[in-house]
Amino acid sequence: MEVIIQPSAGAAADLVAQIIAGELRTNPRTVLGLATGGTMESVYARLVRLHKEEALDFSGCRTFNLDEYVGLPGDHPNSYRHYMNHHLFRKVNIDPRNTHLPDGMAADLEAESADYERLITQAGGIDLQLLGIGRNGHLGFNEPLSAFRSRTRVATLTPETIRQNAPLFGGPEHMPRRAITMGVGTILDGRRCVLLATGLDKAAILAQAIEGPFTCMISATALQLHPHCAVIADESAGGRLEKSDYYRTIFMTDPKWEKFRQPAGQANGRARPSLMQMAGN
Ligand code: PGA
Repeated sequence: MEVIIQPSAGAAADLVAQIIAGELRTNPRTVLGLATGGTMESVYARLVRLHKEEALDFSGCRTFNLDEYVGLPGDHPNSYRHYMNHHLFRKVNIDPRNTHLPDGMAADLEAESADYERLITQAGGIDLQLLGIGRNGHLGFNEPLSAFRSRTRVATLTPETIRQNAPLFGGPEHMPRRAITMGVGTILDGRRCVLLATGLDKAAILAQAIEGPFTCMISATALQLHPHCAVIADESAGGRLEKSDYYRTIFMTDPKWEKFRQPAGQANGRARPSLMQMAGN
C-alpha cells in the first residue's frame, strides 16, 4: 500500500482523477470499479472536465459500481444509478450499456448478486477500483464483520451507516435497510485499488484502516493485503497517520509518482487550466 497526502481535498481529488485518466489513456478498454458518496463528487466533476477540455475518452471503458440500495429503482433520486448518471455517465461519452450497477429491485437478489460477479468476470475483472471509506471503515457496504473473502451479496446496513446517509433521504425512516454490495473479496480481486479520503471526520478511521491491525470489524483494513493499492488523503483525513513523514517521502522520491508531482496545469507536458481551481478547493 502507498499513502499519498495532498495539501487539500481538491488536490487529492485532482490526483485521483489524473490516475483514472492515465489508466483510460493507457488502456481505453479499462474496466473501472466505481464508488459513490460525497467524496467522489469532486472526482467525477474533474473527469467530466477532462472529457470536455482534453477529450478524455470513455467510449471503450466499462464500469462496475460497488453497490446499490435494495428497493430503490434506478430513477429514484437516491439510487446510486441516479447518482452515477447525474455525476458522470450522462456527462461523458460512455456507452450506457457498458455501465453496471447491481439491480436493487431484482426479484431474486441472490441471483442478481451472482450475476454481477459473473459480469465482472466476463469483462475480464476490474482494472482499477475506486474506493471511498465510511466512517465505520466500510468499503462499499461491507459493514463490520464482512468476511475478507466475501463476494457480491445483500448486506444489512449498520445504524451508523443509516445515520450517515439519512440526511440525503430526508430522515432515517426513509432509508433502505439493505444494499447489494461487491464483497471485500471482490474488491481485493481488482488489479489496482485507489482509495480517496478527505476531511477531518475520516482521520481516525483512516489511521485505523492503514496503520491498525487488520480485522473484519474494519473492512478497509483488508486493503493492507492488496498488492497494488494507493490511498490518497488530504491533510485533514491524513492528520492522524503516524508515519506520514515516510509517506510524503515516497511520493516525492518514487519515480512512478513523478508525473503526478508536476504542478497542476503541467500534466501531459502542456499548459492547461488548473483542475485545482475548480469548486471545492
Ligand atoms: P462519503 O461516503 O464519501 O459520503 O463520506 C463514503 C462511504 O461511505 O463509503
